[in-house]
Amino acid sequence: MANTDPGTAEHILDSHDLTDIHALVTGASSGIGMELARALAANGANLVMLCRNQDKAKSVVETFRRLHGDAAAERCLILQCDLSSMRSVKNAVERLENSHIVFDRCFLNAGIFGVPYQLTEEGNELTYAANYLGHYYLLHRCIAADKIARNGRVICTISEGAYMNPFSKADCDMITYPERILGNNLAKLQSRSQASPNSKVFLLLMMTALRDLLRGSVYEELKFCGGDPGATLTDNINQVGPLIKSLSPLFKNFMKPVEEGASVLAHLATADAKDWDEVTLMNHRLKTIPMPRSVNLKKAQHAWEITENVLGLPRLAISG
Ligand SMILES: NC(=O)c1ccc[n+]([C@@H]2O[C@H](COP(=O)([O-])OP(=O)(O)OC[C@H]3O[C@@H](n4cnc5c(N)ncnc54)[C@H](OP(=O)(O)O)[C@@H]3O)[C@@H](O)[C@H]2O)c1
Repeated sequence: MANTDPGTAEHILDSHDLTDIHALVTGASSGIGMELARALAANGANLVMLCRNQDKAKSVVETFRRLHGDAAAERCLILQCDLSSMRSVKNAVERLENSHIVFDRCFLNAGIFGVPYQLTEEGNELTYAANYLGHYYLLHRCIAADKIARNGRVICTISEGAYMNPFSKADCDMITYPERILGNNLAKLQSRSQASPNSKVFLLLMMTALRDLLRGSVYEELKFCGGDPGATLTDNINQVGPLIKSLSPLFKNFMKPVEEGASVLAHLATADAKDWDEVTLMNHRLKTIPMPRSVNLKKAQHAWEITENVLGLPRLAISG
């Protein structure tokens, strides 16, 4: 029977020896990613914390040092990267390519929610860029460069909106020409609430396409999972605005603390995965849930291809 009380990430990881594990965590400078990184480092894992704000990340690592000692902090390497800028992601990937690190666990966790529609310098819509395009670029290049262990796991942080909200869908036009809604105030308003769940649908499509692409290759055993932390009290609340932030003490009663929010990711990283042949989607109660209707192989392949083109990446070719 499914466990309905997953506890905390630390509780899950405590029973695992992670000393030989290398993990990449995006968005490790706050919230769920920070808590996951802390619990991983405390249990011996070696981390690359991919963060856009280096000073903030450094102070997070200093907190880990105070809590868990020098050895835990020394195992944390900060890699500066703004996922909404493909130039920044390219620089970060090149640094990874020049390192000896191969990731056993790749947590694609960073994300924004509720920010107004805006285009980045490179012409991408900001939420899609930070939540999806940056992660796509990172993953594509890491696989091509053999930077992910062949028996490893790719774990994306998904939200309930991606599979419960009937309006969530992968709107490919927002990837190919996001500027089309520039003069349309209603579409821009809708984008503010829809871009985040839609970008998570794209992450599910990305994993579905990649799982299929790698079938029969040396990456046959690579697992792909999506974890929904559930409503968790984090800095995400800041993104929705000062009014909501001022009300945040009220949310404490029905939102879980980050220690619990990070537990589904910890579970996906350590649970027995022998039956996870397809992309596995799990909620915060550690219950496997069916993929939303908006995710199927044909759509996944389409989204994969157009994203590869938009990002100017070469076709991903993996030897058998
Ligand atoms: N909290 C919830 O209730 C909830 C529910 C479902 C899903 N989620 C998902 O959980 C994930 C983590 O969110 P959270 O709740 O922990 O929020 P959070 O505290 O705001 O953390 C988000 C993290 O993503 C990073 N980030 C944002 N934009 C970035 C960019 N352009 N480049 C690099 N890093 C960037 C942030 O960096 P900075 O520290 O520099 O801001 C931060 O480390 C997100 O994907 C979110 O969608 C959250």
